[in-house]
Amino acid sequence: MAQSKHEKIERSVFLIIVLTLMTVSVGGLVEIVPLFFQHSTTSPIDQKGNKLDVKPYDAVRLVGRDIYIREGCNNCHSQMIRPFRAETERYGHYSVAGESVYDHPFLWGSKRTGPDLARVGGRYSDEWQRVHLLNPRDVVPESNMPAFPWLDRPIQFDDIEDRMRALNKVGLHKYSDEEIAAAPAALEGKTELDAVVAYLQGLGTAISDFR
Ligand code: HEC
Repeated sequence: MAQSKHEKIERSVFLIIVLTLMTVSVGGLVEIVPLFFQHSTTSPIDQKGNKLDVKPYDAVRLVGRDIYIREGCNNCHSQMIRPFRAETERYGHYSVAGESVYDHPFLWGSKRTGPDLARVGGRYSDEWQRVHLLNPRDVVPESNMPAFPWLDRPIQFDDIEDRMRALNKVGLHKYSDEEIAAAPAALEGKTELDAVVAYLQGLGTAISDFR
């Protein structure tokens, strides 16, 4: 019996690999490309189109976020609450794309050695956060999170203005020239600990109620 066209493909390693790759690439593009243009993923709104109170990070929080990345906090903590009951009961409303529009790079992650931090803002006092970062065992005796005692030192981010200008290029930030010029003064007298705590206290506060 003559070979059908499909049989020809299935019997040729070369054809099946090339055609599979083509199919997967087209499928991937169809799924991914619209996300770059969809309103719900590119603007600060929730899944129902309600405007979220998400603002670009101010200078102090921006530094806090950069220190969070520098210290590798994101290796143990995700910032992505999935829409499952076990997660929403524990952490609060699941994460929506619009909350992350000012996160470059995003820190969603999937590795959870510690709890998800997407909605940790306001859960503890500033003082709790400070003590916890300096030595977690002081407030959570069974904790195996590392201590970060060196964070209690002045912020030295001489390039904060460049960082803000860079974000203007890659994101929706639109920091004004005045905001950028005011940044070094805003960091004056602050410690790295202040910045990380300010960053943590803002996390996930744009959706406050359980809808
Ligand atoms: C080696 C893994 C690890 C690293 C790195 C790490 N953590 Fe943790 N973190 C944990 C664990 C485990 C817990 C749970 C025990 C506790 O509360 O201390 C935790 C708890 C927390 C909590 C309390 C969360 C809650 O809902 O109770 C915060 C806030 C936090 N970490 C912030 C940070 C920050 C900021 C950094 C970086 C400076 C960081 N963590 C780095 C493992 C880690």
